[in-house]
Order: sequence, then structure tokens, then C-alpha cells
Amino acid sequence: MQRWDAERYARHAGFVPEMAGPLLDLLAARPGERVLDLGCGDGVLTAKLAATGVEVVGVDASAEQVAAARAKGLDARLMDGHELAFGPEFDAAFSNAALHWMRAPDRPIDGVWRALKPGGRFAGDMGGAGNIASVVEALGQALARRGFDAVSANPWYFPDAADYGARLLRRGFAVERIALVPRPTPLPGPLEDWLDTFAGGFLAPVPETERLVVKREVTAALRPRLVNKEGVWVVDYVRLRFLAWKPT
Ligand code: BEZ
Repeated sequence: MQRWDAERYARHAGFVPEMAGPLLDLLAARPGERVLDLGCGDGVLTAKLAATGVEVVGVDASAEQVAAARAKGLDARLMDGHELAFGPEFDAAFSNAALHWMRAPDRPIDGVWRALKPGGRFAGDMGGAGNIASVVEALGQALARRGFDAVSANPWYFPDAADYGARLLRRGFAVERIALVPRPTPLPGPLEDWLDTFAGGFLAPVPETERLVVKREVTAALRPRLVNKEGVWVVDYVRLRFLAWKPT
């Protein structure tokens, strides 16, 4: 199971909300609008929007992250993205780096649909097809070498535009844009920190006593591909970014 440690997240994953500029541009939230932040995490992005006069409600499935968001004075609620419990009260919804954790993708899409007023919009930025492919491959190989099923251990859903676009359309959304965007992402520290922060679920089948060895193995395998001349880890992120509308 993936566990979120809010303090570790703030230390090692600050780049996640920092790189959300294109998503915020797509969302184009206006002061006074009521906006749902699906997968708000520790609320850094939620707070940024709230500071512009947007009335933001954040939801997240992690109690620790919700507590961290509330500590920032935000309206953050503990709620699984698969089970959004809102009626049509939002002008817009957005989700940054969260939808790829939701393995039954039609359920968050359905929940957002129900949460939006007619004419409301849904902007998303998530891992798309090919996202962190090198890391997925190296983790998969390390697990397979130990006899674990790497496919079922993989906690992430990285769809392409055709797949996710079709799901949005099937629910009734009008899709204004959807595209894969390669975004090589420099990490603030070593890959081990990234693995500790994000890959707990992938490593869950490995006995705890062996996880350090696996992480070292993965790091050694990826170093030649992902460390640049300056010694910075640059991971092969690919975003799937979209904007869709609930018709009036
Ligand atoms: C992402 O934002 O693409 C991502 C983050 C953590 C794990 C997997 C993907």
C-alpha cells in the first residue's frame, strides 16, 4: 500500500505543485468560482488558488495529507477519489498528479461529472502513457527477478489520450483538449528519495528487509540513463493533460 508521509512529501515532492503552471492555465479559475481539487495532497496548489479568491474544496484519500492541507487553513476533506460524494455544486474541478493513482478511472470521472454544475469544466494533469517508463521497467525487473508479479504490483494507471478521452466522452463530457506532453523532470535529490516517497505501493510485495537492496538495484540500473552531466536525476515524466466540459 502507498502511504503518504506529509513531511516527506513536502521535502521530496515540492516539484509536483511547482510544475502545475500549465494545468492552472488550462483551468483558468476566476475569483469567486467554487472549484474542486481532486487529490489535493498537502494542499500547496489548493492554497495557491485560494489565495487568488477562488473558493476551493480539496479532497484526498490520505488522512495525513488532508491534515497537512487543513493545517494551511484549507477546506480539505478525507475522500477517496473513486467515491466523490458531491452534488452539482462546483463551477470547475481540477486534478494534479492524482488521477493515475485511481485504478478504476471511470469512477472519478463519474464523481466529477456529478460534482459539476451544468457548463462546469474539468481540467486534469496526470501521468500518461510512457510516464516514468524507465522507472516502471527497472522496478518491474527487480520484482520479477525475485518471483513477484510486477504487473499486479504496479499501482499506476498511465493512459493515452485515446483511452482517457473516450472515457470522458462516454460520460458525456465535451473534450476541448487532451494530449500527451513529455516533461523530463529534474528531481530535487537522489532517485532513492523519489522511490521512498512514491513507490511504496510498487515495493509492497517485497519483504521490508529486502526493499533497500531493491531500491539500490533500481538506482544502479537507472543511473547511466537518468543522471545528467550535472549529476541531477532527470526522470522521464510524460503528462496527460486535458480540459473537458459538462454541457449546459
Ligand atoms: C506522476 O506525477 O506522474 C507520478 C508521480 C508519482 C508516481 C507516479 C507518477
